[in-house]
Amino acid sequence: MLDTRCSTRLGDVLMQVPLLDLKAQYATIKNEILAAVSQVLESQQCIGGPKVAELEEKIASISDCKFAVGVSSGTDAILNCLMSLDISAGDEVITTPFTFFATVGCIVRVGAQPVFVDIDAKTFNINPELIEGMVTEKTRAIMPVHLFGQTADMDSIMEIANKYNLTVIEDAAQSITSIYKGRKAGSIGRAGCFSFFPSKNLGGIGDGGMVVTNDKELYERLLIMRNHGSKPKYYHKYIGGNFRLDPIQAAALLVKLPYLEEWSEGRRRNAAYYDKKFAGSFVKIPYINPDCVSIYNQYCIRVPRRDEIMTHLREKNIGCEIYYPVPLHQQECFSYLGYKEGNLPESEKAAKEVIALPIYPELTEEMMDYVADSVLEAVHSS
Ligand SMILES: Cc1ncc(COP(=O)(O)O)c(C=O)c1O
Repeated sequence: MLDTRCSTRLGDVLMQVPLLDLKAQYATIKNEILAAVSQVLESQQCIGGPKVAELEEKIASISDCKFAVGVSSGTDAILNCLMSLDISAGDEVITTPFTFFATVGCIVRVGAQPVFVDIDAKTFNINPELIEGMVTEKTRAIMPVHLFGQTADMDSIMEIANKYNLTVIEDAAQSITSIYKGRKAGSIGRAGCFSFFPSKNLGGIGDGGMVVTNDKELYERLLIMRNHGSKPKYYHKYIGGNFRLDPIQAAALLVKLPYLEEWSEGRRRNAAYYDKKFAGSFVKIPYINPDCVSIYNQYCIRVPRRDEIMTHLREKNIGCEIYYPVPLHQQECFSYLGYKEGNLPESEKAAKEVIALPIYPELTEEMMDYVADSVLEAVHSS
C-alpha cells in the first residue's frame, strides 16, 4: 500500500511531510507503551507512586541535578517554581518576549510584573548584554528560555544574577538534556522547568512536566506546593495547587526516556543535513553557539518573504509553523504593560521571518530533500 506520508511524487500523489509525525515514533514503541500503561492500570496506583518517583530520579540524574519534582505540565513547572519562591505582587521578573505564552503567563498569574529584554538575533535567546540595564530594586528573578533546544548564554546571565542577588529560573521546556559548556539545561540556575508536551523531544502521551533543582529547601517546598500546599495532609501552611504528574504519563515517559539521546541525535543529524542543503542560499540556518549542544526541538530558518514561502510549502503538503508570530510584549492581554512596536526590534523581526521545518528523527533523506528543495524553490523565485 502506498504510504502518502513519505511517498515521492507518484502519479498525482504529492509527497506529504508533516511538521511532526508522532505516529511514526509510536509505531516503534507501541508494545512497550501499552505494557507500561497497562501495568499502571492493573496496579490502580492512579496518583503518584513508583512510576512518578522513578521518573523523577532518572530526570534528575540526566539533568545533573539532585532533585526533581514531577508536575502536571511545563506551565505548572514554571508556576510551581514561582509560587515556591514566593515571587508575587511588587516583584519584577526579567524574561524574553520571544517564547511560548506560558513563560510570561505564569509570571503574571503570580501577580509579578514581566520585564522584557530583547533577544540575540542569532540564537533567538535573551540577549544578556541588555539584561543589566533592566534590573531595578524590584527585580527578583531572571527567567531565560532555552528556545528551540539551545540554551541561553548562561554564564553571562548567572554573572548578572549573582551581582544583584537574583534567582534564575531556567525555562528549559524545549531543551531537556541540552548542554551549555558541559552543563545540562536546568542545572545552572536555581531551578529548571521541563515540559513533556507530546511535541517535545521527550513527550508524554498527554501533558506533563518537571522541575529540577539542586536546592533542597526549594525541592521540599515544590513538593508541598504541588499538593495544594499541604503538609501534613489537610494542614495548609501555603496555598499551592494540584500540580501532580499523572503516573500513566510517568510510565509512558519511562518507556521513551532510553530513546531520548538517540532521538535527539537523529534531530542533530537532520539539522546538519538541512544546513548543507541550504548552504550558500538566502536561507538563514539556525545558529548554534559553539558553547552549546542543541537538541533541536525545532529547526527554525529565517527567510525573506516568509508568508509567501509558507504558502508554497503548505501547497506542497509540507508541515511548517511560525514559532512565534506575535512576540509577547505585543499580545493584546499584555497591552497594559505599555510596550510599543519597535521597543524590542529583534524579537519583532524574528517573528516576521522564522519558519519551523520538520526535524523529527524519523524523517528520511528523501523527505528532507523534498522539504529543502521546496524551500529553496520558493526563496529563489521572485
Ligand atoms: C518555552 C516554553 N515554556 C513553557 C511551555 C509550557 O509547557 P506545557 O505545554 O507543557 O505546559 C512550553 C511548551 O510548549 C514552552 O515551549
